[in-house]
Amino acid sequence: MTSESTSPSAQSERVIIFDTTLRDGEQSPGCSMTTPEKLRVAEVLEAMGVDVIEAGFPIASEGDFQAVQEVSKLVRKSVVCGLARAAAGDIDRAAEALQPAQRKRIHTFIGTSPLHRKYQLQLDADQVHERVIESVSRARRYTDDVEWSGMDASRTEPDFLFRCIESAIRAGATTINIPDTVGYAYPEEFADLIREIRNNVPNIDQAIISVHCHNDLGLAVANSLLALDAGARQIECTINGIGERAGNCALEEVVMAMRVRHDRLRYDSQIVTQEIMKASRLISAITGFQVQPNKAIVGMNAFAHESGIHQDGVLKNAQTYEIMRPEDVGLFRSSLVMGKHSGRHAFKKKLEELGYSLGENALNDAFIRFKALADKKKEIFDEDLVALVDDEIHNSDQQVRFVSLYVQCGSKIRPTAELELEVDGVRREAVQTGDGPVDATFKAIRQIFPHDAGLALFQIHAVTEGTDAQAEVTVRLEEAGKLVTGQAADTDTLVAAAQAYIAALNRLVTKREKTAPAALSA
Ligand code: KIV
Ligand code: ZN
Repeated sequence: MTSESTSPSAQSERVIIFDTTLRDGEQSPGCSMTTPEKLRVAEVLEAMGVDVIEAGFPIASEGDFQAVQEVSKLVRKSVVCGLARAAAGDIDRAAEALQPAQRKRIHTFIGTSPLHRKYQLQLDADQVHERVIESVSRARRYTDDVEWSGMDASRTEPDFLFRCIESAIRAGATTINIPDTVGYAYPEEFADLIREIRNNVPNIDQAIISVHCHNDLGLAVANSLLALDAGARQIECTINGIGERAGNCALEEVVMAMRVRHDRLRYDSQIVTQEIMKASRLISAITGFQVQPNKAIVGMNAFAHESGIHQDGVLKNAQTYEIMRPEDVGLFRSSLVMGKHSGRHAFKKKLEELGYSLGENALNDAFIRFKALADKKKEIFDEDLVALVDDEIHNSDQQVRFVSLYVQCGSKIRPTAELELEVDGVRREAVQTGDGPVDATFKAIRQIFPHDAGLALFQIHAVTEGTDAQAEVTVRLEEAGKLVTGQAADTDTLVAAAQAYIAALNRLVTKREKTAPAALSA
């Protein structure tokens, strides 16, 4: 029972994969992305065969608008989608951002549940219904591809939901999205809702039914898969399942479930599954959100076998304990051992085996850093390379850049940090003492680049074993309710700490420009 033995068959039905990593994923606390980062992700998503890329929420900020516009220029095959509330200004702004796209979709939504109508919108049911018609009709002025979502649909009175859906389709919506916004639904119940929609909305055959499930009870993937049996043909999901609160349905999990259990789930996506690891690693490098080791499909341990019995079985026949091949998700068992004599070509090949494809400049920079690391460290493990490349991806395009750090510490002196940074291309220096070397270093950063953010998380982990291991440091900063995460790795823990702090600071600068749009009010 491997993915090989369950290859797509002629009778199976096609499922549209709608990726919202750049919108819902990016919306999650501590997880903002710059426009160049969004472009890198969009490129990988398109190469992976994603049908629809939701690139952002253009009205949210100048940065979001620019990101959707740039993604629209870059992407040629996938549909590029922009989110808009049920308001003329939102829809016009989304249309403007999407203007350069080869294939564009406007996704407009409004809260339909009693709770959302009463408390968020302060609108009655008829007023919400009116907004549905107005918003979809307005979006249709700009494109034939319009998606309508009833936010909190799973907690909406079914009759009112049917009425809104029917009107949305009559106004021109071609996709009807049913979000389980708060991750409350139970799989059979959610599938029943989709069935009821098909049975009670007279014009439903004129639209694709989509589902958008959040993972608050860990049911997002189950809810999405069961909805397929009930008639849904689009799944909204994100890489690594990132998203608001507990996240969204994980793309890699639904796609591989359809593939591996094709005997039961007779659906196909056009996702090139061998690109999954690359996308997963890119997202965790950019966001600083590490994937939990036991995460299905993309976790570090997803294909690792620790117990003797399992190892023995896998060596005799991998199918004894593996239901899919690591290669099917882009994980290759590598034969290349890297060391200080390895050349650029071998380095590039190794990174490809690990699921990375870097542009020429990034590759050159990463190679220089690899050589420096190989001079300091005898053995270079795959984990070292992953940390090094993640660092390269995470910490490019910065306004504040690390230059050098000299720290004196120990039991006999007050810890002192001498730090040099480059801010907007200008070198600046600071010397600070502190309660420890980390405190002194962070104070020096604050002196050079004053800010009010507080330290919400400071975490160190060793990338590999041994005292010469690289330290990977994660720093999370909080300012006025906004969270940002920075990550960096170095054999010197203090240098990694300074760089991680600076990475977080750069993200804060981007995030400051972004305001979360309020729900519509009457
Ligand atoms: O969770 C949700 O309801 C959403 C909508 C905007 C589709 O993200
Ligand atoms: Zn959502």
